[in-house]
Amino acid sequence: SLSMVTCTAPVNIAVIKYWGKRDEDLILPMNSSLSLTLHQDQLKTTTTVACSRNFQQDRIWLNGKEEDISNPRLQSCLQEIRRFSRKRQNTVDSTSDVSGVSHKVHICSVNNFPTAAGLASSASGYACLVYTLSQLFGVESEQLSAVARQGSGSACRSLYGGFVQWKLGEQLDGKDSLAEQVESESYWPELRVLTLVVSAEQKSVGSTSGMHTSVETSQLLKYRADVVVPSRMEEMIRVIRERDFPAFGELTMKDSNQFHAICLDTYPPIFYLNNMSHRIISLVHRYNQYYGETRVAYTFDAGPNAVIYTLQDHLSEFVQVVRHFFPPEVSGEEFFKGLPVCSAD
Ligand code: DP6
Repeated sequence: SLSMVTCTAPVNIAVIKYWGKRDEDLILPMNSSLSLTLHQDQLKTTTTVACSRNFQQDRIWLNGKEEDISNPRLQSCLQEIRRFSRKRQNTVDSTSDVSGVSHKVHICSVNNFPTAAGLASSASGYACLVYTLSQLFGVESEQLSAVARQGSGSACRSLYGGFVQWKLGEQLDGKDSLAEQVESESYWPELRVLTLVVSAEQKSVGSTSGMHTSVETSQLLKYRADVVVPSRMEEMIRVIRERDFPAFGELTMKDSNQFHAICLDTYPPIFYLNNMSHRIISLVHRYNQYYGETRVAYTFDAGPNAVIYTLQDHLSEFVQVVRHFFPPEVSGEEFFKGLPVCSAD
């Protein structure tokens, strides 16, 4: 009487950033956001969930180490999925437990990249957990992204491939704060992503506490959420639909810069970028200036690692330029993770 399911979920990288919650328990954002989900064979989480009547309690292992199952975010995801599963079963047959939802689960989750290095491990982690549980318990719902959202906000976007928006929603219960696909991964096959791993160290200030302090202290954040992001979301969707790389790149860089400006506007200030990050930013701008158009764009999350978006035609030349200015003895072996995204194959 053991059922077991294994699934994978990739990391997503936002081009319009989520930063700030209007409800910290339900994880409801102050602004909508938009990201690209990487391919399945790139940065990803693999999760196996087993359930059995012989299990005494729910348990979880992350990268081989047992973690505390009582973590409130983990608990909300488990409870919500079980609630969905019961609701579904009741409509089918109220007496038998077809999916084993009444049994305890053992969860085993592994990332193929360093955790908490600002490479969005919580996003793929919670997306994968929720999706795997939904498969095990036979849950099919439009609301799955709302469950993943309660694990980690950015996780709701990793339930879909390609270009994904997380609409902030209006309801107090968060039922309309959901992710939805804008375009599939095959829509823009020439688009590429490259991560420059400046540091694999744990980030200094986690995004949850960082955004909490920003909401409390940054006036710029209110302006961003109320005025800047609503119009940027519309523009971003438009330039993606038009496959307009220069406009996409410029907007992506501006939004990353505004997010880090908010971090500086937070009191006490939060520094996610380091000297290497700043040198990468300068290099990208000099490269684009040389060609008189935006061929390459950077974006940074809550850490110093750069994520570069470019088109297939410019990828190898830009990699050469980066290698020239950041030789291996400076950058280290982990520096390059060439990650094609949205290619048609
Ligand atoms: C900078 O989703 O990690 O990566 O909801 O508190 O778990 P919590 O935060 P999290 O924040 C991600 C912030 C970001 C921007 C983004 O991915 O949109």
